[in-house]
Amino acid sequence: MPTTMRTGGAHTGPSMSPRRPTTTRDLQAAVAGLKGEVRFNAPLREFTSFRIGGPADALVIPADVEDLSKLVQQARIAKVPIFVVGGTNLLVRDSGIRGVVVSLAKLNHVKDEAGGVLYAEGGVGMPTLLRFAISRSLSGLEWAAGIPGTVAGCVVMNAGTRLGQMDQALKAVHIVDRQGKLVECPAADIRFTYRRALLPPGIVAGVWVQLRPANRDKIATVVKDYLRYRKDTQPLTLASAGCVFKNSERGPAGKLIEEAGLKGARVGDAQVSEKHANFIVNLGDARASDVLALIKKVGRTVEERTGVTLELELKIVGQP
Ligand code: EPU
Repeated sequence: MPTTMRTGGAHTGPSMSPRRPTTTRDLQAAVAGLKGEVRFNAPLREFTSFRIGGPADALVIPADVEDLSKLVQQARIAKVPIFVVGGTNLLVRDSGIRGVVVSLAKLNHVKDEAGGVLYAEGGVGMPTLLRFAISRSLSGLEWAAGIPGTVAGCVVMNAGTRLGQMDQALKAVHIVDRQGKLVECPAADIRFTYRRALLPPGIVAGVWVQLRPANRDKIATVVKDYLRYRKDTQPLTLASAGCVFKNSERGPAGKLIEEAGLKGARVGDAQVSEKHANFIVNLGDARASDVLALIKKVGRTVEERTGVTLELELKIVGQP
């Protein structure tokens, strides 16, 4: 996004390249005077659930939403691209990401508003929001049990499971727009599709969800059962980016991949999970190039065997 928030992660908007290569001076102008943390040439490995990824020219963890707005304004003037890293469902290429990469880790506050409405800042983890909802005996987010991403990432991706998805609970979204202004966007103005939300350009800084009062033990039981199901069927103890492919009309991607005989298939330290074939796991030192080669192999094999072209759910970002 030439003011440039590219799609993927917890941001929205058109993907555009800066008009000229970003210089060190541009980067310094973009991050000048911020209260939050700034790291140059920062490896992104530790910011992704895959534990894979080359460096960001600059990684910024804004201290609060004002800091985020200031960064957006300054980056726009300096023509430095911004990418928000949600971290899950994301593969960062080995050569990393040019410009500024933003982590919303410090936008991590949740508050209770009247009438079953909760407000969560964009960097709040979905598990935290779900725990908060249970503590207030509020139902409507049980579908999210086991989803590790941030609430901002869940909105951008319209994250979901077979129990439900983000758009069903969403009331409105707070967006830091291209000018760095904080604007409110009602859910009714957003078009949602399978694993995608068409949001106005900008960065998701916060989310209102509308929930319903319910029996706390009942909510907790649904969540517990669902977490157990995921633990039994998914490789949650290994680094991964969740499901790699979207399910197809011809059946769940995991089933098609297993039937193609690909469970356990490996390129370097990237492996099609033995437990759930729609997960690729990092056995230790996988590089993005290993994952990409494995994705290609899985896609090709499934297509040859079934005629189904699998579509990626995983977002791939960074310099090719
Ligand atoms: N299956 C296989 N082999 C496998 C995996 C699955 O045959 O290796 C079969 C299962 O036996 C089952 C069917 O495929 O009959 C569906 O499997 P599962 O219940 O595991 O659900 P899924 O469709 O594979 C979806 C979401 C997951 C979410 C689970 C649980 C997608 C692409 N995936 O998986 O989301 O955790 O339901 O609700 O929608 C993610 O988004 O990152 C993700 C993992």
